[in-house]
Amino acid sequence: MALLIINGPNLNLLGKREKNIYGDQSFEDYFSELKKNYPQANLSYFQSNSESEIIDKIHEVGFDINGIIINAGAFTHTSVAIRDAIAGITSPVVEVHISNVHAREEFRHTSYLSAVCKGVIAGFGLDSYRLAVEHFLNN
Ligand code: DQA
Repeated sequence: MALLIINGPNLNLLGKREKNIYGDQSFEDYFSELKKNYPQANLSYFQSNSESEIIDKIHEVGFDINGIIINAGAFTHTSVAIRDAIAGITSPVVEVHISNVHAREEFRHTSYLSAVCKGVIAGFGLDSYRLAVEHFLNN
């Protein structure tokens, strides 16, 4: 089993950014706990603020890896190109969000990615990532 977590724009600021929405833990801290708790998932992590780098990473791993967990941040609501990248690979992809995007501004209610993902997990804080890992381990 090998899983890759991809985080999109501004998610490098977790722990510093809008703490009332996204919490006060950095993703690096959370990720090291997750790796420790799920050694069998062989987790790796990639973050980029660049749409093209995210697309390149999806192409690079998307025919070999057991699963991708993606939080595309704001690109979720804008990127046909990331959607097409996900549609073009064979590895299953789970879309995650820290916040409940449906309880927020209207522009966050639309995801270009959901229809080409296996499922969507949103609103459970950083625990959204753990729930996605559990999905891949149990299926
Ligand atoms: C987010 C929700 C997006 O609307 C926002 O642009 C983000 C983070 C989340 O994890 O809740 O950057 O994907």
